[in-house]
Amino acid sequence: MLIKDADPIKSSEITSKDAFLNRRTLLAGTAGLIALGATSKKAEAAKLSFAKSRLSTSEKPTPYDIVTGYNNFYEFGYGKEDPAKYADALTTKPWTVKIDGLVDKPGNYALEDLVKPAKLEERIYRFRCVEAWSMVVPWVGFQLSDLLNRVGVQSGGKYVAFETLVRPEEMRGQRGIANLNWPYREGLRMDEAMNPLTILANGVYGEELPNQNGAPLRLVVPWKYGFKSIKSIVRISVTSRQPENTWKMQASNEYGFFANVNPEVDHPRWSQASERPVSGGLFAKRKPTQMFNGYADQVAGMYAGMDLRKFY
Ligand code: MTE
Repeated sequence: MLIKDADPIKSSEITSKDAFLNRRTLLAGTAGLIALGATSKKAEAAKLSFAKSRLSTSEKPTPYDIVTGYNNFYEFGYGKEDPAKYADALTTKPWTVKIDGLVDKPGNYALEDLVKPAKLEERIYRFRCVEAWSMVVPWVGFQLSDLLNRVGVQSGGKYVAFETLVRPEEMRGQRGIANLNWPYREGLRMDEAMNPLTILANGVYGEELPNQNGAPLRLVVPWKYGFKSIKSIVRISVTSRQPENTWKMQASNEYGFFANVNPEVDHPRWSQASERPVSGGLFAKRKPTQMFNGYADQVAGMYAGMDLRKFY
């Protein structure tokens, strides 16, 4: 991954979501229409109803401003602040997801038809980027296994492949600004896809996902490096062979298919032994990275017998 160090976020700028919204409302009251515009735009994000989950961590979520202001989404540019600046250009309604390959019910599904039958839960997960920064994110979503069971995986289905939208008119990164081979692609082995921790998220902080976080539907796989968590999904295919994934295609000596968080296997250009919690700003104390990002109890069994130094 390109490591262009992010612009520092001042700790004075870090606020909780409530404080952030209150500030907007106050501004709207005193400063008239311009601020009001900003407030009503913010209020458009629909609140979601969801259950709590026992699979959530008890760690404190990273503040809303950081979760939605410090992002990787190369369809909008390389900078950490580009997605928040430019992703509003993306139209997410209507949204269709093509489901194909080795499934009983292939088709072009309207987003609502995928989400409505699902049991939405809040999943507060640790999130560890391969660039060695981390957050704690309160996602809202549903298990990928729920969707796969609904569409029926056929017996030869061994992997699940995902693709992000290609729409250069709305995604400036795809107009030559970011040099990836579009569409952004990812994949999981079937047991990983069916693991209860693996979710499709349609929300964060109790509301519909903002575009910069991968609206309207993105994958979240908390024991893997963040690049596996593909955003703004338009296609899900069940395949018999291991699918391509963008960062492995880009640099297979640096990024693999599995990409399980592993403090013992360094990236060729930096150490993976520790991470920088983004909420602490650029000079935050680093903390040790955990095997499988702390989810070893739930997932290590899937990799029994594999040499984890080799399958990165
Ligand atoms: N998905 C798409 N389509 N394009 C991207 O550039 N970046 C990945 C992942 N999913 C990316 C993507 C990387 S490198 C990370 S770390 C996470 O999204 C960041 O998710 P966040 O911005 O919600 O924290």
